[in-house]
Amino acid sequence: MKAVVVEKFGESVQVKDQPLPEPKDHEVQIHIAYSGVNPVDWKIQEGYFKERMPHEFPIILGWDAAGVVTQTGYGVHHFKKGDEVYAYCREPVIKKGTFAEYVSVNENFLALKPKNISFAEAASIPLAGLTAWQSLFDYAKLQKGQTVLIHAGAGGVGSFAIQLAKIKGAIVYTTASVNNHPYVKKLGADFALDYHQEDFVRAFKMKLPDGFDVVFDCVGGETFRKSFALVKKGGCLVSICNFNAESLGQQYGVRSGHVFVSPNGRQLREISALIESGQLKPPHIEEFTLAHAKQALEKIRTGHTQGKIVLKVT
Ligand SMILES: NC(=O)c1ccc[n+]([C@@H]2O[C@H](COP(=O)([O-])OP(=O)(O)OC[C@H]3O[C@@H](n4cnc5c(N)ncnc54)[C@H](OP(=O)(O)O)[C@@H]3O)[C@@H](O)[C@H]2O)c1
Repeated sequence: MKAVVVEKFGESVQVKDQPLPEPKDHEVQIHIAYSGVNPVDWKIQEGYFKERMPHEFPIILGWDAAGVVTQTGYGVHHFKKGDEVYAYCREPVIKKGTFAEYVSVNENFLALKPKNISFAEAASIPLAGLTAWQSLFDYAKLQKGQTVLIHAGAGGVGSFAIQLAKIKGAIVYTTASVNNHPYVKKLGADFALDYHQEDFVRAFKMKLPDGFDVVFDCVGGETFRKSFALVKKGGCLVSICNFNAESLGQQYGVRSGHVFVSPNGRQLREISALIESGQLKPPHIEEFTLAHAKQALEKIRTGHTQGKIVLKVT
């Protein structure tokens, strides 16, 4: 099968022939129609995860897939050949990814693709949607009526975070370039701030002197550090970018932590239900082909994607 591989950290990706991944026990083999592209893919390519997770070369990049079940391994109970599915496919070892014609993953990672969306839209959902879900609901325990600041509302994770926070009944503030304000407003944001034009700490302190119940950091660096000043007493800061979020929070007297998204078929089914009922919409997507994975990775690396990038595989 064709796959996009990295043979050495820091080197360009190549499309190469790779062995077909046969499904092991409890695994489902998916013929991939579309893969989702995430910032983690270029970070893996550069070797930024080499101390955090084991890996084996050649690495097939990509953690998101949407496609059709072609085989099931021993002990698979919930999926059958021909099912249209999608999944966040991260394994403990970085090795077999989804920028490929086929992937085999544990059935617990999968959900049936929502019937009312395309494979391209489905591939844009699992990693980013689950990240927003696990950060806002599992970690921050966001409640109806609370105020939440979502940094980078126009990005992949932000596109889901804004919508999920609104579904929960929260009041949503977000940061985005002014050209992305119509997009984040359409997703449901109550207020958007252009972080290029205004100091976000000063601007939000004027708007909400007591601070936010929840701040969701999807940017890291200075944005992460400065955001502690905006958390209400007893509030929470959740970061998907800073691994030291917990210890820093102790210094500020704020509950804070880092979330590293986990595959979760059960939560993906809940996301599917929200999509099928029309409450949650897929983000804006831009398509590349598998052969143009290099360009897709260069684009996501800029850090200014609106919504998501997906790769058409078959
Ligand atoms: N820990 C985890 O499990 C996990 C999971 C998913 C993602 N992540 C990480 O979280 C980050 C976001 O992921 P993503 O998929 O949402 O990335 P993305 O789609 O590449 O995010 C792009 C968005 O970021 C916005 N942005 C860039 N700089 C900003 C700033 N200083 N303030 C506000 N917005 C800014 C851009 O908006 P403008 O163009 O309007 O500037 C753009 O829309 C990445 O670093 C990613 O690696 C971690």
